[in-house]
Amino acid sequence: MSHLNHSLVQKLESILGADHIFFDEETRKNYGHDETEDYSFPPSVVVKPVNAQEISEIVKLANEYKVPVVPIAGRTGLSGGALSIHEGIGLSIERLNKIEVDEQNLQAIVEPAVYTQVLQETVLEKGLFYPPDPSSRGSCTIGGNVAENAGGARAVKYGVTKDYILNLEVVLPTGEIVWTGANTLKNSTGYNLTQLMVGSEGTLGIITKIVMKLLPKVNNNILMLVPFFKAEQACEAVVAIFRSGIVPSALEFMERDAIDWTLRFLNDDISINIKDEVQAHLLIEVDGNYPDVLFSQAEKITEVLEQYDIDEVLFADTEDQKNALWKLRRAVGEAVKSNSVYKEEDTVVPRYALPELLKGIKNIGNKYGFQSVCYGHAGDGNLHVNIVKGTMTDEQWANEVPKGIREIFELTVSLKGTLSGEHGIGYVQKNYMDIAFDKKQLSLMKAIKEAFDPNNILNPGKVLPDTI
Ligand code: LAC
Ligand code: ZN
Repeated sequence: MSHLNHSLVQKLESILGADHIFFDEETRKNYGHDETEDYSFPPSVVVKPVNAQEISEIVKLANEYKVPVVPIAGRTGLSGGALSIHEGIGLSIERLNKIEVDEQNLQAIVEPAVYTQVLQETVLEKGLFYPPDPSSRGSCTIGGNVAENAGGARAVKYGVTKDYILNLEVVLPTGEIVWTGANTLKNSTGYNLTQLMVGSEGTLGIITKIVMKLLPKVNNNILMLVPFFKAEQACEAVVAIFRSGIVPSALEFMERDAIDWTLRFLNDDISINIKDEVQAHLLIEVDGNYPDVLFSQAEKITEVLEQYDIDEVLFADTEDQKNALWKLRRAVGEAVKSNSVYKEEDTVVPRYALPELLKGIKNIGNKYGFQSVCYGHAGDGNLHVNIVKGTMTDEQWANEVPKGIREIFELTVSLKGTLSGEHGIGYVQKNYMDIAFDKKQLSLMKAIKEAFDPNNILNPGKVLPDTI
């Protein structure tokens, strides 16, 4: 049962109706986790409002009673943004799930609970394209994507979530409902509240409507899987491909363990023969409307690759093969998770620094005694580092690994990179923020949080370090 004040509960019930408020343990537990490690932080109560007006009333009440509110979307996050670490009200946005496509303007007005894949498929039926493509697209929602500024495999050519967001309707932490901008492709009018909200991880407002731009659909692509005998060369090849004048629509890196563990996890859904000596793969896609152009791009890429120590390139000949390769790539995170307790870092560097980052991570792992499985969006310089517990003792895991993570982040920042490319800071990385930002920068961020949320009601204990 909750620790909530009785009169607050009564008022919540009168806003929501008894059907949309949940105190039972099972529901609270269910809304108390996302995909971040094995954390469980159930809220005291779960509420499921139906529109911005109800959310506004709930947030106003929370200010009156000084109770935290945590916005909860698809619960696929990897930085703990949706965890109710101080209990309080877990506010699921799941009932806000409408899509309206504006075909004249190539835009869509989307509510936050729409699954990303549903959005992609809905606009595709109208000949339109929403490119951001997180691996969890079937279960993550567009609201969570905006809150975390999610990326995915197509960001290398098409950009991340922020690049598609024009305007947002938001319930502020003090309860007012505002629009942040305008439904225009250009906007030089005042401070950019829209983009401040994007990636704010549910700490500055609860997003209730999203106006996004879309692109015309792209008709063709070529997908190839390239085995490398040296993992660092796979990272080096990434820069060489861009320097040859080609911008692939995906350029993904998978270490040997990442691919082996995922093949095992998927259990014969897909089989690929990989020589023992292969250390890593690049999954490379080019897309466009003209097959001739695509063929010549693919040819050029294979020419670039000739200077590296690679095995035979596998071209996906059919849609089924393409789907199988993407299924494999999308499942890596889940496969690692199913194998061992792990911590996932989301390092990002300018792409030329990727080989150095990979080498440094392996050295740091050796120093602190942990194994890491690395994969991710090499074209963006974005490397997911899954640190697996494996046979480490609890003591090593608790004491040595955080030191190693700190060193990984220090290396990342020294290479002109930063802590997270697309998963956010949330709960698990907040106490590393001092590596990326100095006191002045952090105090500016804190001042922004205080300006929006004077009572520290909305998703407290996230993003900003505990000590600033
Ligand atoms: C991926 C998620 C974990 O790239 O970001 O698969
Ligand atoms: Zn990713």
